[in-house]
Amino acid sequence: MARLEGKVAIITGAASGMGKVDALLFAKEGAKVVLTDIQIEKVNEVVAEIKNNGGEAIGFRHDVSSQEDWTSMVDETMKQYGKIDILVNNAGISSEVPFMESSLELWEKIMSINITSVFLGQQAVIPHMINNGGGSIINISSIAGLTGGSGAGAYTASKGAVRMLTKATAVDFAKHNIRANSVHPGFIKTPMSEKLMENPDMKQWFLSQTPLPRLGLAEDIASGVLFLASDESSYITGVELPIDGGYFAK
Ligand SMILES: NC(=O)c1ccc[n+]([C@@H]2O[C@H](COP(=O)([O-])OP(=O)(O)OC[C@H]3O[C@@H](n4cnc5c(N)ncnc54)[C@H](O)[C@@H]3O)[C@@H](O)[C@H]2O)c1
Repeated sequence: MARLEGKVAIITGAASGMGKVDALLFAKEGAKVVLTDIQIEKVNEVVAEIKNNGGEAIGFRHDVSSQEDWTSMVDETMKQYGKIDILVNNAGISSEVPFMESSLELWEKIMSINITSVFLGQQAVIPHMINNGGGSIINISSIAGLTGGSGAGAYTASKGAVRMLTKATAVDFAKHNIRANSVHPGFIKTPMSEKLMENPDMKQWFLSQTPLPRLGLAEDIASGVLFLASDESSYITGVELPIDGGYFAK
């Protein structure tokens, strides 16, 4: 049997990168997938790809930092699919602006898209999961949510907050059979990182930090997200899963 047969999954930031690959994999594994992103044309392309492959999916234009957008997207999902089993809070942005040059506006933008979004998404979805007898929430953090790398502090702070909100959620909602886990990607080739990774010096530095001799792919992350979304991980909650080619093994 497919690993997500009969489940309904919302994936944010599903127009590109990891969210897109998560959505394609979830659909292949039998889930009805709700893809959301601010890039609606790209989301619609992924929805069409899923349908062409025989899967079931709908797409929404959805800004994860807007409470209004969460409410309307979740209401529409409930109308169309009747329940929500899985929420993947994947949408996020990074910034290369050094800490001392970051404006308050930039700090607040990063916080609203990377962590306030998780607060809003969980508040919108958890009541439906409770009514449904449980659910699985996967919040995408980063290796930057586990250790202080150099560079923009707002990103690191936001991803650290994702990690701890996930643990608080795991404790608070375990009695409702709702699990919450965070995933911590290492250096993964996606549209977010490709400019940096095309720079040969940066690529070399990323590789020098990663024991496995390659950069990560969105597929590497998707297989971990799938495991945490599926019932195979039904006794796992509140954990942080680095998918980092061994970065943290050093
Ligand atoms: N690529 C990496 O190396 C890496 C490493 C660690 C963590 N991450 C995290 O993984 C997640 C996915 O990143 P990715 O590499 O696939 O990046 P990506 O840029 O390819 O995808 C992110 C998606 O989020 C969407 N998005 C941005 N702002 C949004 C908003 N306000 N509302 C809704 N959608 C919005 C974008 O349109 C895009 O489709 C992010 O949370 C990122 O921080 C990435």
